[in-house]
Amino acid sequence: YNSAIREVRTKFEVLNEELSYKTSRNPIESITSRVKKPFSIAQKLRRMGKPLTVASISESLNDVAGIRVVCSFIDDIYKVAEMLAKQDDITVVAVKDYIRKPKPNGYRSYHMIVEIPVFFSEGKQIMRVEIQLRTVAMDFWASLEHQIKYKKESADRPEIVSELKSCAETIAATDARMLGIRKRIENLEKESEEESAKGQVLSSPVQRYTIE
Ligand code: GTP
Ligand code: MG
Repeated sequence: YNSAIREVRTKFEVLNEELSYKTSRNPIESITSRVKKPFSIAQKLRRMGKPLTVASISESLNDVAGIRVVCSFIDDIYKVAEMLAKQDDITVVAVKDYIRKPKPNGYRSYHMIVEIPVFFSEGKQIMRVEIQLRTVAMDFWASLEHQIKYKKESADRPEIVSELKSCAETIAATDARMLGIRKRIENLEKESEEESAKGQVLSSPVQRYTIE
């Protein structure tokens, strides 16, 4: 599972490096990963009523290998997700778009389960990896929400649930505004480039002023 994570991580790193040359900014802010702990694997299999075997892990669990890609802007998420999905050694098994359709609690992220071949000494094995893509802002909300809610009964009180959801909405609105600002700047840059290109072709005749 570590090797599968390494393969997928490299793909995102390559995309980020290439796009950073093309766009002069980094679409990916950071990448983190984890392999699910044996205790959590056992817990989940038990919850699902599945046997505790190696075969059952690879058949029933999609999130033993997990990778989180934190992007700068919302459109970067869709861009890098599409670029990954198009690669011919990647098979997309499932997608959950919690950005277009947030969870009732306000959680936003783009989730993909992908399969990737990993080449070992005995041959090729198809491995599954869970990918979570989110913006810095979505990551901020999800990390804090996880910390304050984790296994705490009182976090289920309706006023707390609705306050958390309202924070998620504020954050989502800010994400949209930041993207708007970036696009406006890009358009202004493009306009001024077009203006200066026009100026070069149709260079206006030099005006002469005479002093009366
Ligand atoms: P599991 O949650 O792994 O049992 O599977 P699922 O089929 O419900 O998957 P889902 O795509 O909904 O969530 C997978 C992962 O996304 C979780 O393990 C979390 O890391 C993250 N996640 C989903 N919902 C939330 C949420 O409400 N808050 C936070 N902080 N993280 C969430
Ligand atoms: Mg999980």
